[in-house]
Amino acid sequence: MSTIKNICCIGAGYVGGPTMSVIAQKNPNINVTVVDLNTQRIADWNDSDLNNLPIYEPGLDAVVGEARGRNLFFSTDVDQAIADAEMIFISVNTPTKTYGSGKGMAADLKYVELCARQIAKIATTDKIVVEKSTLPVKTAQAIKSILENTGNGVNFQILSNPEFLAEGTAMTDLESPDRVLIGGDQTKEGQQAIQKLVDVYAAWVAPERILTTNIWSSELSKLTANAFLAQRVSSINAMSELCEATGADVNEVSKAIGMDSRIGPKFLKASVGFGGSCFQKDILNLVYISKSLGLETVAQYWEQVIIMNAHQRSRFAKNIVKTLYNTVSGKKIAFLGWAFKKDTNDTRESAAIYVADQLIDEQAEIHVFDPKVKASQMYSDLGYLQSRSEAENSAALTVENDPYTAVKGAHAIAVLTEWDEFNTYDWQTIYDNMNKPAFVFDGRNILDADKLAKIGFQYQAVGK
Ligand code: UDX
Ligand code: ADP
Repeated sequence: MSTIKNICCIGAGYVGGPTMSVIAQKNPNINVTVVDLNTQRIADWNDSDLNNLPIYEPGLDAVVGEARGRNLFFSTDVDQAIADAEMIFISVNTPTKTYGSGKGMAADLKYVELCARQIAKIATTDKIVVEKSTLPVKTAQAIKSILENTGNGVNFQILSNPEFLAEGTAMTDLESPDRVLIGGDQTKEGQQAIQKLVDVYAAWVAPERILTTNIWSSELSKLTANAFLAQRVSSINAMSELCEATGADVNEVSKAIGMDSRIGPKFLKASVGFGGSCFQKDILNLVYISKSLGLETVAQYWEQVIIMNAHQRSRFAKNIVKTLYNTVSGKKIAFLGWAFKKDTNDTRESAAIYVADQLIDEQAEIHVFDPKVKASQMYSDLGYLQSRSEAENSAALTVENDPYTAVKGAHAIAVLTEWDEFNTYDWQTIYDNMNKPAFVFDGRNILDADKLAKIGFQYQAVGK
């Protein structure tokens, strides 16, 4: 196979879109075509106004602006892009299964399988197929089997190249990654394929940061990295409950342990709970794989990380009810933030969804302000839980375009996302317009406790 001139990426989501934009920006000689079945999504990626890209990610607009139309293309013509490419990334969603065996735990691979079948049908020349989506260990084997048994006799090499970008910082993560991981077959052809992908990244990533492994190690490393990160958050959240019960301050504990160079300071911020499309899904996946292999103790060990996270969200909601004199029925509660973290419009598994659901069960009236999340997304998130009808959710949750309107007349404010702008608000005006006593429940530990207390707020943060 000659060097790569055309790359196709199937899936124009939070992973495929930003990753391919950077690959195209750094490799002006390679044509990169990102395809998706979702015509609206592709139209948004092609929107002449870069403010309308389907994903909000700081710095993404500039990179798309530079490369789009030059060597970066967004299209719905999946077949053509597959036919033209020497290298195909699969970057489609792999949600947790909602049916059948492994329901609620295993990854649903139907979208990945469809991609593999599509590639097998269309390809008439040799292809390198790269797994970019987070997938259970041994998925590469399944893709290989589909390609080899249903294909047109062409030669396929499968690589695993998990993406480690975090949302909100995707562009800097892609620009200077801690490492790029590429797994492939240990055969001569496998090694050649690995080298071709190494060459793509070598356009901007230092060679010592590009790790090559066998395919199973690569697949498992991604799940392991996310499990370790999530475990740190659940560990500090477990300590936050202990801090609240003992008078210790979780921020001080965090700082003290984080200065131990063996522990390090990152991912030790107590919060209302982690969200995002990866942590829960990947751990559930790990639990499922472990159970399938009969490794019960390993499965239970990792399952606790998820149990702790659900406990943290629920504890946060319960504390609001308890503090507001054991009833929130008919009370207005303002949410600042709905996204699962700052600087993204992604809401998948956001703690805000679960806290809202629990408070709506207690008949609270929720008013939400988030700088980037659309109202339709919030209602769809609540609808997904299937706790009540669409009409009931619409009646219980109001989406506000302005934070000051959201908090006006509220009994309490709950901070669910750590958006920087929340600190710049005029908190005196907010206080003046709220029901008294005015409560703030800071689920992200971001507000200035002393300042708010001086104004007169009853302020509570997680772990204090
Ligand atoms: C994660 C991994 O970091 C990334 O490498 C992988 O590719 C995808 O999954 P992401 O989900 O985008 O990235 O965000 P991340 O920054 O890891 O945060 C996940 C959740 O944990 C967020 O809800 C965040 O608010 C929460 N969190 C993180 C905490 O509550 N405390 C912390 O100290 C860190
Ligand atoms: P991620 O966070 O992993 O990027 P997203 O849900 O944001 O996940 O994006 C995945 C994208 O993959 C979606 O836009 C979806 O429409 C697309 N997709 C899923 N299956 C296919 C397929 N068979 N062909 C093309 N696009 C697909």
